[in-house]
Amino acid sequence: MNRFARFPYCVALLCVGLGGWLSLQTAAHGADDLSRMTPAERGYYWLTTKPYLPADFDDEIFESLWKVWPAPLREQARSATPADRRKMAFARYGLIERPGSSGSGPALGYTSDGQGGWCMNCLACHSGKVAGQPTLGVPNSHYALETLVSEVRQLKLQMGKPLSHMDKGGLGMPLGTSRGTTNAVIFGVALGAMRDADLNVRQDFKVPKFIHNDADAPPFWNVRRKSLLYADGFAAKSHRLLLQFVMLPRNTGETLRGWEEEYRDILAWIESLEAPRYPFEIQRELAATGRTVFEKQCSRCHGTYGEQASYPNQIVPLEEVQTDPLRLQSLTVERREQMRDSWFGDYGKKPYVVDPQGYVAQPLNGIWASAPYFHNGSVPTLWHVLHPDERPVVWRRTEEGYDLEKVGLEVKVSDQVPAEAKSAAEQREYFNTRRPGKSAAGHTFPNSLTEDEKRAVLEYLKTL
Ligand code: HEC
Ligand code: HEC
Repeated sequence: MNRFARFPYCVALLCVGLGGWLSLQTAAHGADDLSRMTPAERGYYWLTTKPYLPADFDDEIFESLWKVWPAPLREQARSATPADRRKMAFARYGLIERPGSSGSGPALGYTSDGQGGWCMNCLACHSGKVAGQPTLGVPNSHYALETLVSEVRQLKLQMGKPLSHMDKGGLGMPLGTSRGTTNAVIFGVALGAMRDADLNVRQDFKVPKFIHNDADAPPFWNVRRKSLLYADGFAAKSHRLLLQFVMLPRNTGETLRGWEEEYRDILAWIESLEAPRYPFEIQRELAATGRTVFEKQCSRCHGTYGEQASYPNQIVPLEEVQTDPLRLQSLTVERREQMRDSWFGDYGKKPYVVDPQGYVAQPLNGIWASAPYFHNGSVPTLWHVLHPDERPVVWRRTEEGYDLEKVGLEVKVSDQVPAEAKSAAEQREYFNTRRPGKSAAGHTFPNSLTEDEKRAVLEYLKTL
């Protein structure tokens, strides 16, 4: 179950041993080691050791963040050991330790700049914990990006330290209004508007209209089954797309294009990941019944599993799926055409769906592990996916709890965000489906199943 156990451990050791990218540059045997790695191993190596972005903050800031926490927590942190204080900070912001970490330096989702700085990497959003277990490639449903960035900014202002791109960016737009989801799609729209078709920084750009929406990252292990990426399945899969996240203006077009081979490796790593197996008990007979129901009711959209698996890459119109519309509306046909006709889409050679009009029915491999569900992460368990009328209006996850009965996040459910959640940070702990972009409605297909069939399908979903 521990994903790190299966992981190219030598790569992790190599990174720790060499102390990061900067020292690798000077290590005489560096190039040799890289050429001996498989593309996937190299991809993980780039991802975790090469800072593609400037640092968001440094060790000193991270270790002092408790000073801006709200009162009871701050007092608890004050009297805690440094190691316990680090654990508290990791829990508050939804971070996990690097495999083999000695408990200092950047979390897994951040890369060292070699000078104590923490540079955000893909794993901040794309690796997290499932039922308390660190798991590579799972959406980080614990990540509290907005809370982290706003507290870093507050502390830097108090300490008279300069603000980073993230600290400033977070003043201009929401970064994520609930724990576990981010406004990542709009980060891409904002950064993309500053680039021409070759990815060079434009001098004359118009700020586009932003329709902010929080998205739950899809699990990495399904990327290899897909030919079209993203919730609306508009973009033909390509390693080039992965560079969207590092398009900060200080990375010139030439720099970005020069990283192409490294991102080819990163995609190879992503595509090498396998869905984690369900580690708890499964009732095999019930699951077999569920498989029959699933193949009749769900496979036309979600494909089949096991030997001779097939996956249709089906985009389902919004009128039919009826889940929250905001993510679909947040990209214009014009923006998708621009991507297709640029370096990202190999100048129009890749098949894009520029007007998808709906959302992709995702492959359901490892679905037990990638809660919450739907593109906006609005539904905490598979039972709730199967019972559209009983989905919670407001929910808050427990820190590590896994709901074995409903299969997904263990949550506390309420009708309103409680009045005692006064600060913005506290409110972000609640997923409020009444807010724009956060609806848990739609996908009523399971309504055609009997309760017995739903129970069987739930059991079957554990086996994928
Ligand atoms: C701030 C959080 C965040 C960071 C950092 C991030 N991503 Fe993502 N990623 C997302 C979200 C959210 C989506 C879903 C977007 C959508 O579907 O519209 C996504 C989608 C993807 C997809 C498409 C998956 C699919 O199944 O369609 C890939 C591939 C991907 N990201 C790779 C990367 C890589 C590689 C990096 C680092 C270079 C990265 N991401 C950094 C949040 C993030
Ligand atoms: C007509 C096509 C269609 C049918 C039939 C269908 N689904 Fe879906 N399903 C979708 C689409 C589209 C989404 C994505 C919705 C979104 O993200 O907003 C989805 C999402 C899901 C998700 C969440 C996936 C994730 O990664 O968050 C689960 C679980 C799921 N469906 C299970 C089922 C089951 C079980 C059945 C059969 C009872 C079924 N679906 C029938 C189209 C379909």
